[in-house]
Amino acid sequence: MIEDLRRLEEDALAAILAAVDADELEQIRVRYLGRREGLVSGLLRRLGSLAPSDRPAAGAEANRVKKAVAAALEGRLEQVSATEVHGGGDPDLTLPPRRKWRGTIHPVSRVIDDIWAIFRSLGFTRARGPEVDSEWYNFVALNTPLDHPAADEQDTLYLGRGLLLRSHTSPVQIRTMELYPPPIRIIAPGMVYRRDTYDATHTPAFAQIEGLVVDEGVTFVDFKATLAEFARRFWGPGTRVRFRPSFFPFTEPSAEVDVKRVIVREDGTEEETDWIEIMGAGMVDPAVLENVGYDSERYTGWAFGMGPARVALLRHGVRDLRLFYENDMRFLAQFA
Ligand code: DAH
Repeated sequence: MIEDLRRLEEDALAAILAAVDADELEQIRVRYLGRREGLVSGLLRRLGSLAPSDRPAAGAEANRVKKAVAAALEGRLEQVSATEVHGGGDPDLTLPPRRKWRGTIHPVSRVIDDIWAIFRSLGFTRARGPEVDSEWYNFVALNTPLDHPAADEQDTLYLGRGLLLRSHTSPVQIRTMELYPPPIRIIAPGMVYRRDTYDATHTPAFAQIEGLVVDEGVTFVDFKATLAEFARRFWGPGTRVRFRPSFFPFTEPSAEVDVKRVIVREDGTEEETDWIEIMGAGMVDPAVLENVGYDSERYTGWAFGMGPARVALLRHGVRDLRLFYENDMRFLAQFA
């Protein structure tokens, strides 16, 4: 009996040493020390079959084994739970707790949302088109011949068989006018692609927002007034807007639009920024209207294309456009 007890003790200690977690130790405790089914209790139940003179020694040995196994269990439990919680050693109470992860709207998306909200309140609807488009929609229908520099392989990412990654959101003008008769008042945000250098002011994929209005009697004055209203709502009442003559194949006349903002310093004094270009724009070329089957004698329109990432740069005083497209969370988390 005493030998049996010692063998049990040896087995139990070996199992305890090999155990890796609290669950396993609990199973070992039940197996050896469990009151009903435990192996030590099982042996003790045979105590009555021993000669009365052998019983005290066997009983004492059984108690010693019980205590030894219980102590070994406790010691090992301390070891494995230390490993489970903090990889061994003492916990470092100075460590910060794990932060809750909260998503935020990307700063470029937020600019798009804010611009869209203003135009929506002015009666515009939202439109979109595919990022993979054809030469017809991206260039030809927009009055841009395929031998124009913009259509060159140096600038545009061609996919073969007349398909390409759209180089601007202007093809959405064509797609919208093909689907709907005038009046048209749309805002079309989306990603565009160019074979560009990758530097602080250029990225090969970037967001654009297209605007288009077509109706009877629409003039450049409507355009200037709408743009001025937009700029003042977006950048503040003191904002000034300037139109510089420019050229785009799909507008005549064409303009580049600059804004000059008023910044209020902390001491209350005001400061005007430099003129900053925000968009290309113009009156829709009659040839474009004819390409979608609109009567260019009856209808006129204006359009613009704007870069929301550049607007986000201004808004946040960021100098490098790439930061907005690399999605490094250390950068983006600032805009929470
Ligand atoms: N599509 C032009 C570009 O990507 C921007 C532009 C200029 C859009 C004039 C227009 C516009 O709608 O009228 O550079």
